Amino acid sequence: MSYNLLKGKRGVIFGVLNEQSIAWKVAKRCVEEGATITLSNTAMAIRMGDITSLAATIGAEVIPADATNVEDMENVFATSMDKLGGKIDFVLHSIGMSPNVRKKRTYDDLDYKFLDKTLDISAVSFHKMIQSAKKLDAISKGGSILALTYIAAQRTFFGYNDMADAKSLLESIARSFGYIYGRESGVRINTISQSPTMTTAGAGVKDMTKMLHFSDMMSPLGNATADDCADYCVAMFSDLTRKVTMQNLFNDGGFSNVGMSLRAMETYEKGLEEHLDDAGNIIYG
Ligand SMILES: NC(=O)c1ccc[n+]([C@@H]2O[C@H](COP(=O)([O-])OP(=O)(O)OC[C@H]3O[C@@H](n4cnc5c(N)ncnc54)[C@H](O)[C@@H]3O)[C@@H](O)[C@H]2O)c1
Repeated sequence: MSYNLLKGKRGVIFGVLNEQSIAWKVAKRCVEEGATITLSNTAMAIRMGDITSLAATIGAEVIPADATNVEDMENVFATSMDKLGGKIDFVLHSIGMSPNVRKKRTYDDLDYKFLDKTLDISAVSFHKMIQSAKKLDAISKGGSILALTYIAAQRTFFGYNDMADAKSLLESIARSFGYIYGRESGVRINTISQSPTMTTAGAGVKDMTKMLHFSDMMSPLGNATADDCADYCVAMFSDLTRKVTMQNLFNDGGFSNVGMSLRAMETYEKGLEEHLDDAGNIIYG
């Protein structure tokens, strides 16, 4: 159902890889709500993923860019303004990658070159994106910029590894830049902290299926899906949230404020012995 919430607005969406990508669900919903958009991803993701065919279904231009490269970021915003015919009203950063997670390096055995990459791709790229847009004066007054994050930025989640540090930095960038951009031209910058979601990036997180199930049991409303996330993004891009900025907003069915649910506790008790090794020692993971 469309409410025309984004009628006449122009947007740039980073991070569509395939149909499962949260960015794709957001892109589709934005177009349904009346926006015209461009999509961006790395040249490699464009070759390996489905972004080209997906973009064709919504009439969106695809602009190749590595989000860690400032020139690429400038080109995305200049080209988007050109193709869409004016300044940009909303931007989604839906980008994350950790070489340490990919190579199964645990948090107490990080490769620091990999850590630099994790932070650059998953967090500093948000700063590069916003700074490039601001220098080009590419964002309309009152525009809205969002990045997707995860609760591991605030609380430790086994297996989330150095992505937790990247998400903390990402959320901090939203606050620091949100102050400057809000004061100067009313641009809002927020992060949405999404439930675990089965996507290509999500599947890389250790024991993702179990994590998904656990948070679903813990949350009074159950996990938020990628479609739920798309609805929230639309609301945040719309004029209905003009005074919301510098926030980390949880779209997680209530998970972040639950200590323990009865269902989760009872399941945990039943399975406790599975977490002991043969000698009866606790496996911490
Ligand atoms: N899936 C989850 O459980 C979950 C939960 C909370 C937050 N998030 C966040 O949502 C965002 C989107 O992830 P997703 O789950 O849709 O997975 P996804 O794999 O579909 O998207 C990740 C995207 O990042 C892109 N990317 C990687 N390196 C890049 C670079 N250098 N430049 C530009 N783009 C690059 C990939 O090509 C891909 O399109 C990420 O920030 C992720 O951390 C995901």
